[in-house]
Amino acid sequence: MQVTYDFTGKNALLIGCTTGIGRATAIAFAKAGANVFISGIGAGEGRSLQEEIRSVSRVEVEFREVDVRDGQAMEDLHRRAFERFGRIDLAFNNAGVSGKTAPVQDLTEADFYQLIDVNLKGIFLGLKYQVPHMTAQGGGAIVNTSSLFGVMGFATTAVYCASKWGVIGLTNSVALEVARKNIRVNAIAPGSVMTPLLTDMFGSEQAAKDTVLPMIPMGRISSPSEIAQLVLFLSSDAASFITGQAVIIDGGGFVAGAGQ
Ligand SMILES: NC(=O)c1ccc[n+]([C@@H]2O[C@H](COP(=O)([O-])OP(=O)(O)OC[C@H]3O[C@@H](n4cnc5c(N)ncnc54)[C@H](O)[C@@H]3O)[C@@H](O)[C@H]2O)c1
Repeated sequence: MQVTYDFTGKNALLIGCTTGIGRATAIAFAKAGANVFISGIGAGEGRSLQEEIRSVSRVEVEFREVDVRDGQAMEDLHRRAFERFGRIDLAFNNAGVSGKTAPVQDLTEADFYQLIDVNLKGIFLGLKYQVPHMTAQGGGAIVNTSSLFGVMGFATTAVYCASKWGVIGLTNSVALEVARKNIRVNAIAPGSVMTPLLTDMFGSEQAAKDTVLPMIPMGRISSPSEIAQLVLFLSSDAASFITGQAVIIDGGGFVAGAGQ
C-alpha cells in the first residue's frame, strides 16, 4: 500500500539535506506538494537536488549552502527562508556526521566538538530560530534527527551516541515549551540506513553490512526513502497528537536487545 501525503500550500525548511535521508525527505516533501527550502554542505549536491526536485514537482525550491556550526549563518538561513516563503510550516533538522569511530581514550577534544557542534548544536540553532517564527504564525511541526544510537550505547561511537541522546533531550524539552502553541516537536531515531554517513562510520559499505546486519531482525538495512516516510508522517496532520516523541525506525533491532 502506498501512503500519500498532501502538503500543498505548506512550506518546509530542511537543514542538512543534500544527501542521504535528508535528500530523500526533500524529494518526498516536494512530491507531496510542499515548497522546500533546502540547506546543507555541498553546493554541487544542493544544485543537483534542486534540479531533481524541479524534474519531479512544480513546487518552489531554493538551496543555500550553510554550515550548521555557524550561528550567524544559521540565523541568516532562517531569515532568508522566512522572507522567501512568508511562513515556514515544517522544519526538518537533520544535519549530522559520524565523526571518528574509536574508543574514548583515542578521541581528541576536536573530535568531541566536531560531533557535538554539528549533531547537537546544529539542532539547537534550528530550534532556536524556528520556534519564535512558528509561535508568531500560530503553529508548525518540527522533526529532529536523532538515531538508534540516541537510545543506546555502542562501543567506539561514544560521542556520536552522546550527541544523539542530546537531540532527544532537546526534542522532549522544547516539545513541552511549545505544547500550547500548536507546535509539535518530534525526533526520528533510525537504525542503519544505507547512506554516506553509514559507510563513513564503518569504513566501507561491506564493513557496515558485516557489523550491523546481524543486529537487525528484519535482515536488511533501510533505505533513505523509508525514513523520509516517517518524517512526512510526523510532519503531517495524521500525527496531530504526537509530540515530544523519538520514534525508533530500525527493523526491530532495539526490541531484539540492540540497546541492552
Ligand atoms: N545512515 C544511518 O544509518 C543513520 C542512522 C541514524 C541516524 N542518522 C542520522 O541521519 C542524519 C542524516 O544522515 P545520513 O545518514 O543521511 O548521512 P549523509 O552523510 O548522507 O547526510 C548528512 C547530511 O548532513 C549534512 N551536514 C553534515 N555536516 C554538516 C554541517 N556542518 N552543516 C550543515 N549540514 C551538514 C550534509 O550536507 C548531509 O546533507 C544524520 O543526522 C545522521 O546522524 C543516520
